[in-house]
Amino acid sequence: MMYDEFESERLLDSSYKREDDNENPLRPKILDEYIGQDKVVNQLNIFIEAARKRHESLDHVLLYGPPGLGKTTLSHIIANEMGSEIKVTSGPAIERSGDLAALLTNLNEGDVLFIDEIHRINRNVEEVLYPAMEDYCLDIIIGKGPSARSIRLDIPKFTLIGATTRTGMLTSPLRDRFGVILNLELYCEKDLLEIIKRSSNILSIPIEEEGAIEIARRSRGTPRIANRLLRRVRDFAQVRGDGIITSKLADEALQMFEIDKAGLDKTDQKMLISIVEKFNGGPVGLDTIAALIGEDRMTIEEVYEPFLIQRGFLQKTPRGRMATDLTYLHFNRVRRD
Ligand SMILES: Nc1ncnc2c1ncn2[C@@H]1O[C@H](COP(=O)(O)OP(=O)(O)OP(=O)(O)O)[C@@H](O)[C@H]1O
Ligand SMILES: [Mg+2]
Repeated sequence: MMYDEFESERLLDSSYKREDDNENPLRPKILDEYIGQDKVVNQLNIFIEAARKRHESLDHVLLYGPPGLGKTTLSHIIANEMGSEIKVTSGPAIERSGDLAALLTNLNEGDVLFIDEIHRINRNVEEVLYPAMEDYCLDIIIGKGPSARSIRLDIPKFTLIGATTRTGMLTSPLRDRFGVILNLELYCEKDLLEIIKRSSNILSIPIEEEGAIEIARRSRGTPRIANRLLRRVRDFAQVRGDGIITSKLADEALQMFEIDKAGLDKTDQKMLISIVEKFNGGPVGLDTIAALIGEDRMTIEEVYEPFLIQRGFLQKTPRGRMATDLTYLHFNRVRRD
């Protein structure tokens, strides 16, 4: 199966896209199947029901949060729950304003237009979105020079769902045009455990409770990573064991993949140890960290940091990033004065 044969340099990288296709059997189809994110789910339930009762399209929705938490999944669920068709595109894929105009004019009443990575949309294109979102129309300029004139074209009432890793990356005129803004957070271990059990059920992977807990604990709070680790640990259990994922086998596999007990991978470890050893715990600027581990600052901010901060390994201060007492304890180091 296609989605199963991905490779990633970094096993804990949550930004991998190939398993995201719609045939992914692990993707929940309705809100009831969507595990965790209670605040988001509760709000959506209300907005969807209200829109349905009024026979209106749902207000535009902005989903933001680190990669792999279920933004794409949720957008398909929303369309599904509204009984709507969904058209999928992404910010960088819409190159010219004409491309967006073509997309919008081809929508039907009530359709969902999902724009992934909406923060990467080009400024000219973005300006076409404003009247489209607000008044369901397009302003089209015909002709050039003094004879140019602008005409308004009505488009069907649609719902825009935008996904982004950070709302701070959106211009405020765009952000302000979303009626519903939802923040997805890293998942707790309990929810990840449930996701892993659900996935192993769907994929018929034999797994013991303790084995599932081990994977849940080491999945960086991210369902995409949990599902990936589940598949890799299954491989390991088939070759090194009798196919059943026990906690011992899961632990051995995760050690082999160089994911430690706290769920930190090589890059996390390198980053934290550098801050401790080279900078006496910090504060260290983002650019310095980027140079240290050879990643760009955006990736650090969007992919690495949220988890390290959430788990208390890293602290964000105005002067830079700092290692915490927990970091010292975890790596068995003593703070110098
Ligand atoms: N709440 C959930 N319950 C069960 N499975 C989930 C949930 N959220 C996500 N998943 C699983 O995790 C995978 C990743 O989710 P998804 O592709 O929607 O993430 P994303 O937030 O769109 O990521 P990206 O920002 O990288 O596009 C999905 O294939 C799905 O199987
Ligand atoms: Mg996605």
